[in-house]
Amino acid sequence: MVQHLHARLVCSGCKGELAQSDTALQCRRCQAAYTIEHRYVSMLDRREQVDRPSDWDRKAGEIRDYAEISNSLALSGIGRFATFLNYGYVPTGNEQHAAIEPDEVWNRNSVKLLLEVVGGTAIRERDVIDIGCGRGGNIAALHKYFKPLSMVGLDICPANIAYCSAKSRLTEASYLVGDAENIPFADESFDVVLNIESAHAYPNRARFYQEVYRILRHGGVFLYTELMLEEEVVQNVRLLEEAGLSVIRNQDVTSNVLLSCDENAEQRTGAQGIANNANASTKMEDINDFIALPGSKKYEEMKEGTRQYRMMNLVKR
Ligand SMILES: C[S@@+](CC[C@H](N)C(=O)[O-])C[C@H]1O[C@@H](n2cnc3c(N)ncnc32)[C@H](O)[C@@H]1O
Repeated sequence: MVQHLHARLVCSGCKGELAQSDTALQCRRCQAAYTIEHRYVSMLDRREQVDRPSDWDRKAGEIRDYAEISNSLALSGIGRFATFLNYGYVPTGNEQHAAIEPDEVWNRNSVKLLLEVVGGTAIRERDVIDIGCGRGGNIAALHKYFKPLSMVGLDICPANIAYCSAKSRLTEASYLVGDAENIPFADESFDVVLNIESAHAYPNRARFYQEVYRILRHGGVFLYTELMLEEEVVQNVRLLEEAGLSVIRNQDVTSNVLLSCDENAEQRTGAQGIANNANASTKMEDINDFIALPGSKKYEEMKEGTRQYRMMNLVKR
């Protein structure tokens, strides 16, 4: 890990200082232990299994689902290229914020989504964390287009982090298994927090927003996209503001995301697509909804406007 950030790693639970041995990190204050595996360090606080079992069950479900996706992608032969797990963005006539246009052919819509949420935010020479980083596509694109000083990818699914660690050649980037609600970094460690299509899975959204506020430096920016029910938009803005963050942009980009879902449909249902390589125990309906295929519940709700894809920029003043 980039040295100056390594020094800012703390206990996920009590935020105490850590002591390191060859195989583990241990909190000097609460004694929580974190394991150093072959391809990753796991900063998951296992006490949650006992303290908040229903929250943990949801998180364990995410870990299982994404491990299965990782497996399907490896089997399909396209795993090497499948570095994004989001819906993507296709321009329409609405207001655009990206300062740069993507030059990718493969994964273009996902890179465009990233460039849109970044907009005019200063990223160069900044410390950035991508929470729910998935398979690392956003970190690679941030490096390509903006050259941050350092980047951390945090994700709850070990299979995703193992993939990122094995694939990445960037000395500026490091990857950790960890939970968005218990971020293992000291207060004021980052200039930019990125979170793309991940927060819907967090049982306690308020806690996540408080963690984002805590790890941001003053003047730092939170770049955030999520699909929300219409009535959840106001609730989320309230929670973000209660956490101390000020909204500087809150845009409905559902029409852009729908267009991208239309474009993705063919690729994702083709011979090598995720829909044809999922584990037989996964219901087709769930897969279609997960990838928001035209005709699925999620896609139709977006079309009707009862579900909105929100793109937000917030600042810690
Ligand atoms: C839809 S994918 C998006 C991945 C990535 N942001 C992208 O744009 O490609 C959601 C990701 O959130 C991760 N995730 C879910 N719950 C999490 C949690 N509590 N903490 C950290 N990551 C989580 C999942 O493992 C998954 O990789």
